[in-house]
Order: sequence, then C-alpha cells, then structure tokens
Amino acid sequence: MAKMWAGRTDGVTDGIADDFNSSIGVDCRMYKEDISGSMAHAAMLGARGIITKEEAESIRNGLKGIMDDIESGRLKIDMSCEDIHMFVEQELTTRLGDVGKKLHTARSRNDQVALDVRMYLRGRTSELISLVRELAETLTDLAEEHKAAIMPGYTHLQRAQPVTFGHHIMAYVMMLLRDMDRLSDCSKRMNVSPIGCCALAGTTYDTDRQFEAAALGFDGICLNSMDGVSDRDFCIELISCIAILMMHLSRFSEELIMWSSWEFGFIELSDAYTTGSSIMPQKKNPDMAELVRGKTGRVYGGLMAMLTIMKGLPLAYNKDMQEDKERVFDALDTAEMCLKVFIPMTATMRVREDAMKEAARRGFINATDLADYLVKKGMPFRTAYKISGQIVALCIEKGKVLETLGLDEYKSFSPLFEEDVYGEISLETCVAKRISQGGTSVASVEEQIRAVRKALADKHV
Ligand code: ARG
Repeated sequence: MAKMWAGRTDGVTDGIADDFNSSIGVDCRMYKEDISGSMAHAAMLGARGIITKEEAESIRNGLKGIMDDIESGRLKIDMSCEDIHMFVEQELTTRLGDVGKKLHTARSRNDQVALDVRMYLRGRTSELISLVRELAETLTDLAEEHKAAIMPGYTHLQRAQPVTFGHHIMAYVMMLLRDMDRLSDCSKRMNVSPIGCCALAGTTYDTDRQFEAAALGFDGICLNSMDGVSDRDFCIELISCIAILMMHLSRFSEELIMWSSWEFGFIELSDAYTTGSSIMPQKKNPDMAELVRGKTGRVYGGLMAMLTIMKGLPLAYNKDMQEDKERVFDALDTAEMCLKVFIPMTATMRVREDAMKEAARRGFINATDLADYLVKKGMPFRTAYKISGQIVALCIEKGKVLETLGLDEYKSFSPLFEEDVYGEISLETCVAKRISQGGTSVASVEEQIRAVRKALADKHV
C-alpha cells in the first residue's frame, strides 16, 4: 500500500526498506498514549477554531472507538504500518474519511513521537519507583528482624570488623532510597510537553500548547521547538538511573550468591528461587541472583547505545532517534522483572545467624577494638595498633584467637592489659559500642530504620 506520506514520491518503497524503516513492533505499546495525545490535539484544534467543534468531536469519538476496540481485542494493530502513529491515523481515516485527515493539522510525527514517549515513560517510571519502594520496605523489615545478628564486615573481602546483618542490609536500603529519588527527579524533568513544536520550527496556526500540555497532565511545555523534537535527554537520564539501580541489585546479587555458597552459608534461598543441576543432584543454584547480575550488563549496554545514538546528531529530528525506544523499554522491562523476582527472593530467604556468628569468631575482626582498648588506657594509637598486630601474629602462630589468649601472654606485650580486656573485645561489645550515627550498633541501626520508614512515608510516589 502507498504510504500516507506519499507526495513528492509515489510512496512505493521496497519491502526490505519497509521492514528496515518500521518501528511498529516496538512502538505499538504506546498506543494508549498516542490516542490520548491525539484526542487532546483534536480538542485544542477545535477550541482554537482551526477545525470546527463538530469535526473535533467526531475525531475524538473516532479515536475513543479505536482505543476501545484495541482494548477489547476487536481491533488488531496492523503490523505492516510504519509506526503506531501511522496506524492510528490510518484507522481513523478509514473510519471517518476526510475528517480523519484533519487530525494531523499543526502537528508532526516529530513532536507526536516525543510526546508519546514522554507520556509512556513517565507512567512506567512511577511503576518502577513503586517496585523499588516495595523492595526497600521488604529489606527494612528483614534488617529489623536481624538487627542484632553479628556477622563479619568485610573490606577487600577480608574479614574486617564485626557488623550486624541488619546494618549490612540497611546499606542497600540507602542505595534504593537514592534510586527512588533519582527516578522521581528524572520523571519531573521528563514531564514537559513537546506537542506543538511540530516538525521543528513551530507552526503558523494559532495553537494553544498550554491547553494540550494541561490536558495531558504535563507540568509545562518544552520552550524551544527545535529542542522539543530533538531532545532525548530524558531517555538517557532514565536509562542511567536504571543502570545505577541495576548496579545496586547486581552488587547485592553478588553477595547473595556468595552468602549461599557452602563456603559462607550465611543464607539459604528458598527453593522457589533456585534451580537444580541436570547432572549434579546436590546442587541448588542461585540462578535468579546470577541473572539479575547478568542483566545489569544488558542495561549498561542500553545506556551506551543511547549516548552513542545521540552524540553526533545535528538538530533537529533524525531517524536515528527511532532507536531510542527499544533501548529504554528494554531497560525498564529488565529492571521491573529483576525487582519482581528480587522482592520475594529476599523476603523468603533463610538468614543463618548461627553461621554468620561462627564466621565472625575467626579472622580477628576485633583487633581494632583490642588496639582501642590500649588507647583508652593511655597508649598512642599507632603503638597500640602495632602491638595488637603482634598479638594477632602470636595468636596465629599458637592457633588461638584473641578471646582465648591468656592474660599473662597479653601482659607480656603491655602492662596495661587487665582482666577487663576480654569483655572489651567480645564481639557483642564491639558491635554494641559502635554507637556513632550510622554505625553498626543495634541502637544505631534502629535509628536508620526509623529514618528510612519516615522517608518512605514522606515520599509521594
Ligand atoms: N517512528 C518514528 C520514531 O520513532 C516516528 C517519528 C518519525 N518522524 C519522521 N519524520 N520520520 O522516531
């Protein structure tokens, strides 16, 4: 069939060029936004007398009918159309004849596609924020439940100092709060209307862009028509917010994978979120966590693709930009799927406090506290640090830990050591004494939990 844009050319293109040019397979999911956008456009044209009130009304009714028919399954989207915009307009014209052909007055597909994408993405972004919130809430509950469970804290993946599991989990919650903020900030910048920018230069018709923007729930309009049709910053920003979110989920996945190994044994994932091996009967593999980690690469790829697509484009619209949707939609779909698995997976995993405690007993993670003990008795920190290191070396040589080294052996290093050293270096004391704000003591973790619950309650989305 000849194209709706047949004019200078006869609109007859090679089949392979049609396939190559087509985006309907990707943009068909924006049919609701496309139709609502067109309904607002028709209303504006009618209100400004650019078309008659009756024509506007009949276009709006026609569009409403198309929406209902797609929704009920009576109308199938014709995948041989170039894109969703052409499909809707073609269907409208089939239904209404010449009146349908008036819809595209004072509009271009360039502002139309920018409008649809912004509307579609703002809806999906708010759904994504809700899922991130759900994960943050799930993890906060988990942290609360295990706020006093002692585990080794690591730096360089070497046992460093004792922390609580609740503290460790709250660290991820903090990341998720930032993710929520980033996403809603991005959504704010996205929520300005490009419709009315037309092809690139605006229009000679007496349009009302504010009217359309308000009807479609935008906070304002793009102030420069060339920018309005060629700006895809909001796509790049959204993918980059999602990339950061995925990076957080990926780090967490990595820990879940390690923690569920026999070497750690800190958690056991529920059977519902693990798989077996086709050959090794003993296996219980953390595939979901591994996939979240793997899919992070896919989202990063989308971000790189978007940045690269845009980097050499002269103003204003260029067809290269059609490549934007596939990347952003895929990033959204991926993050959404990952969160939908991550939430129940973390809510149902078994936390093995005993194994964490056992691990915390090895690795001299109370050595800093041993040094601090001497400092509090008057020794300069550097000297105390050195002596403590020598004591650790002695323990390793004798197959002992700081808790089992005799008082006489301690005293051979410094007369400052007394019986109370044992109480000071117990893991419970090490944790309980870290009361600095944001620290690992139960009181401090409780404070973090309270602050997070309040922050979540104060967030609107
Ligand atoms: N399918 C196109 C896209 O996604 C719509 C805009 C086409 N505009 C044009 N002038 N060819 O970008």
